[in-house]
Amino acid sequence: MQRMTGKTPPRNPRNPKRMQKKVNVKTRDRRTVSSARWLERQLNDPYVAEAKELGYHSRAAFKLLQMNEELKLFRAGQKIIDLGAAPGGWTQVVCEIVKPGVNGGKVVAIDYLDLKPVSEAIFIKMDFMDNEAPQKLKDAIGGKAHVIMSDMAPPTTGHRETDHIRIMGLAEAAYEFAREVLLPGGTFLCKVFQGGAERDLLNLLKKDFAKVKHVKPPASRADSSEMYVVALGFRG
Ligand SMILES: C[S@@+](CC[C@H](N)C(=O)[O-])C[C@H]1O[C@@H](n2cnc3c(N)ncnc32)[C@H](O)[C@@H]1O
Repeated sequence: MQRMTGKTPPRNPRNPKRMQKKVNVKTRDRRTVSSARWLERQLNDPYVAEAKELGYHSRAAFKLLQMNEELKLFRAGQKIIDLGAAPGGWTQVVCEIVKPGVNGGKVVAIDYLDLKPVSEAIFIKMDFMDNEAPQKLKDAIGGKAHVIMSDMAPPTTGHRETDHIRIMGLAEAAYEFAREVLLPGGTFLCKVFQGGAERDLLNLLKKDFAKVKHVKPPASRADSSEMYVVALGFRG
């Protein structure tokens, strides 16, 4: 797995390591220990602060910016499908680069939750696992796409193996969809959790793509088993 270094300087949106005063959150009446811990982590997370300052809908935007900085995934004029897009950080990042409406650029996003507004993107509010979702996405993108990216994650159960199996189900569905919709030379980017089965997906991808890597961008929390599979050069 490729661990990215994130050497970019402080105050750069790709690595906002600015100094922050630590905020402690006490548990109170109805606030549970776990929700207090979540709140404390959010308040002390420099990516959360930087996302708010720069107007990104989520801290996840930095993961994509870092992966793009390292791997040069996106270009103006591309057609991109964003699976599991809410609240919309990734959608914002690709719209900034692709510039929908200019030179054929188009971004289509899907989630069963609401996307915070990203005016340049086409949003489909739907479960990607719904039988009608693939066709709706194809119609919206108008043919084939340069990049299929999936940050889809089911709500976690806390049971590591179950969470791993559920996310791998989504990753495999995303990959099947990518095989139908990607243009030759295209890119598939997908969130997985470490746990064993991601190696099977990696082996499948190696047959269809010229280059396949596992990456963990610096903005992906070190204590999370989350990582990303990046497959480049779809053989078509
Ligand atoms: C980690 S969040 C994505 C964050 C997003 N990339 C961003 O930058 O804001 C994962 C998303 O996957 C969505 N998701 C999970 N399963 C899905 C499914 N079957 N269909 C559509 N969206 C799904 C969830 O609703 C959630 O919004």
